[in-house]
Amino acid sequence: MVLCRALFLFALIATIFSTIAVAKDFVVGDESGWTLGVDYQAWAANKVFRLGDTLTFKYDADKDNVVRVNGSDFQSCTFPWSAPVLRSGHDTVVLTTYGRRWYISGFANHCKSGQKLVITVVPSQQLPWSPVPSPSASPSPSPTPAPEAAPSSNAPWTATVPRRSMLPKKLFKMIHRNLIAV
Ligand SMILES: *[C@@H]1O[C@H](CO)[C@@H](O)[C@H](O)[C@H]1NC(C)=O
Repeated sequence: MVLCRALFLFALIATIFSTIAVAKDFVVGDESGWTLGVDYQAWAANKVFRLGDTLTFKYDADKDNVVRVNGSDFQSCTFPWSAPVLRSGHDTVVLTTYGRRWYISGFANHCKSGQKLVITVVPSQQLPWSPVPSPSASPSPSPTPAPEAAPSSNAPWTATVPRRSMLPKKLFKMIHRNLIAV
């Protein structure tokens, strides 16, 4: 039992530190950037996009832009006036929700020519208190996924990753709790 607890603690701590270390930035299209003539589904195919990672779109701001859309607009290459359009030429997007995310070029006929990207964002790691920090809930030791947290299609572009400064305190509490229980 004591050994179990020790192993559990070890795994927990290892998980936390690996989670903190792995937030990645993906440059969409790598060296090609965001442009006509790149197969973005092939680019995305072998990658795992996790909550907290970022996508960076690099392109000539005079000749392109990036629009985040929903699944049906992705298919039809249309978007409403209200859709968020990025146009700086070097835009970084934080993946703050999990599930599918769709991006198209809103420039001329670029989308219809295939300049579109769909990715699926997966949870970073199923920590007991992630991905939604809930101050009152006591962390449960079983890492249960929370599939009902629906991907929000209108999350703000600028939303930030859950604050990491929260981690040490919760971690401390959790370790403390487990040590008492040993
Ligand atoms: C996608 O957004 C369009 C508006 O641009 C809306 O008409 C359509 O119902 C939406 N589709 C889904 C699946 O949410």
